[in-house]
Amino acid sequence: MPVMKNLKLAILGGGNLGTSLAKGLIVSKQCNYQDIIITEKRESRIDQLKSLGFQVTSNNHEAVSKSRIIVMSVKPQQFSSLAEEIKQALTPDHILISTVTGITHKDIETALGKLPIFRIMPNTALEICESMTCIAYKNTNSNHETLILPLFEKMGKTLIIPEDMMGAATVVGACGIAFALRFMRAMSQGGIEIGFNSEMSQLITAQTVKGAAQLIVETSNHPEREIDKVTTPQGITISGLNEMEHQGLSSAVIRGLITSYNKLENLDTKTHKTPK
Ligand SMILES: NC(=O)c1ccc[n+]([C@@H]2O[C@H](COP(=O)([O-])OP(=O)(O)OC[C@H]3O[C@@H](n4cnc5c(N)ncnc54)[C@H](OP(=O)(O)O)[C@@H]3O)[C@@H](O)[C@H]2O)c1
Repeated sequence: MPVMKNLKLAILGGGNLGTSLAKGLIVSKQCNYQDIIITEKRESRIDQLKSLGFQVTSNNHEAVSKSRIIVMSVKPQQFSSLAEEIKQALTPDHILISTVTGITHKDIETALGKLPIFRIMPNTALEICESMTCIAYKNTNSNHETLILPLFEKMGKTLIIPEDMMGAATVVGACGIAFALRFMRAMSQGGIEIGFNSEMSQLITAQTVKGAAQLIVETSNHPEREIDKVTTPQGITISGLNEMEHQGLSSAVIRGLITSYNKLENLDTKTHKTPK
């Protein structure tokens, strides 16, 4: 039985993340299709979301009026105009969730007044209930927390963080999906070069990476401890691993994370451009 009985949820912005969230709420059996209203401006996305079975409208004011939990999931530069559209429809009973990168609790309060606010930083694995979702909240009480936090606990793992760690959470947890997938693409391509067809290579890569991740999630062991179990002295694995390090694997990953972080820290949320 969905736990959200009689509790409507509006997702404002049915893009990549909004859609992943909507799907995750269904897959985790926390919502029925009629519990969720998605708003979207793009015709092609409206049609696509409707074909999946969701209620979709372009009227944000109406969606907010019909819901208690409001998820803002638009690009940073779209936040202000969305806030303008919903401002008059918000009441003290509403609970606000924002996925919007770089928009702070203070920005939200300035735009919309004092409301319970949950800033969340999930990733697109929400849709298969395997997200890592970092959460920082403000103006909430235990009722709000008891209602909202389990929603995300049932769609993966959650971590409550101070708001000033949201930028770091964005890079490691949200951008991290792309970083991990690019590694997987490289591994899969290597597999093709040594003899597998692309389907076989992708399957072996995906299941191997999933197993590696699961080993760390379940044991909390440091990755190097698991690596030690695989690297025989003078063996095959260590020779490949050391060659990757000679080519800068760890350094490239760390520098990539820091580059993303610096870009985010300097982001102008109004234009979504980094100042020159
Ligand atoms: N994707 C991720 O993995 C991820 C992870 C964590 C956080 N985030 C953050 O979450 C937010 C959404 O990300 P996303 O990847 O889902 O972006 P997205 O794919 O661009 O989705 C936003 C959608 O909202 C639509 N939209 C814009 N203004 C609207 C309005 N006033 N009312 C209703 N719909 C509106 C956009 O239409 P148009 O494109 O036509 O403008 C777009 O379809 C961003 O701030 C992002 O940084 C994303």
